[in-house]
Amino acid sequence: MASNLASRLRDGTQQSHTAAENTAFMKCVLKGMVVRESFRKLLANLYYVYSTLEEALQRHQNHAVVGAIYFPELNRTPNLELDLVFYYGEHWRNQIQPLNAGLAYVKHIREVAAHSPELLVAHAYVRYMGDLSGGQSLKKIIRTALDLPPGRGTGLYEFEQLPTLEARHTFKAKYRDTLNSLPLNQATIQRIVLEANAAFEFNRKAMLELEAEVKAEIGEPVFNLVTHQEKLGSTVKTAGRAVELIDTE
Ligand code: HEM
Repeated sequence: MASNLASRLRDGTQQSHTAAENTAFMKCVLKGMVVRESFRKLLANLYYVYSTLEEALQRHQNHAVVGAIYFPELNRTPNLELDLVFYYGEHWRNQIQPLNAGLAYVKHIREVAAHSPELLVAHAYVRYMGDLSGGQSLKKIIRTALDLPPGRGTGLYEFEQLPTLEARHTFKAKYRDTLNSLPLNQATIQRIVLEANAAFEFNRKAMLELEAEVKAEIGEPVFNLVTHQEKLGSTVKTAGRAVELIDTE
């Protein structure tokens, strides 16, 4: 029986999405102020998150709910490993560490995987749909801001098997259909939406941890100028329709 999980997730995380977009870190990135040191720390943090998540998804691939939403072609861990080689060098494993928010995020994913694996759907949704959506525009800004060499440094946002805008659109539609077809009751749907909000919060907290470093790097006056205005969320509906995405070829 089909559900409306996809729209429940989109609508039910709208405020959390807006809050994540309105972190000073993201506002700076959107204005092209990408501090290399903080960006690589964010990637390192995401490495811990994604490797934990992807290990859990793989382990539960025969679970009726988790298995249906497990798309190994989305896996970010291998791409993040390449990004970390690029930013930290070949001994990156000895140099990286998770942020406090990352430690808590990882611990939480492990607990969810052990006790309520169906809630992993929320974690997959928040990260993968984010990387396939806003992530695609962030990628372009970051590449320009850091003047990255071709094909290096933004593997997080590269989906080799979804190389075009059309392929990503089609995949996202399939992902939403899959969410709607998961065998879930209303109570579990509600728990998944709550869990997705928790996932957004872990992401927001990671960015908050990097804020002081960004401020120090770009200077307080510029930082204040760039961050003082609230941004309308990208998943907030305006005049009855969602603000369209900025992912272009
Ligand atoms: C400045 C930063 C961001 C921008 C500009 C942005 C932009 C967008 C846009 C334009 C969409 C709509 C795409 C569509 O309708 O197909 C979207 C969707 C989404 N974003 Fe973001 N985003 C940002 C940050 C984040 C963060 C930090 C996360 C989570 C970690 C995230 C998670 C999501 C998710 C899960 C969706 C899918 C919503 C849905 O259709 O169900 N975004 N984002």
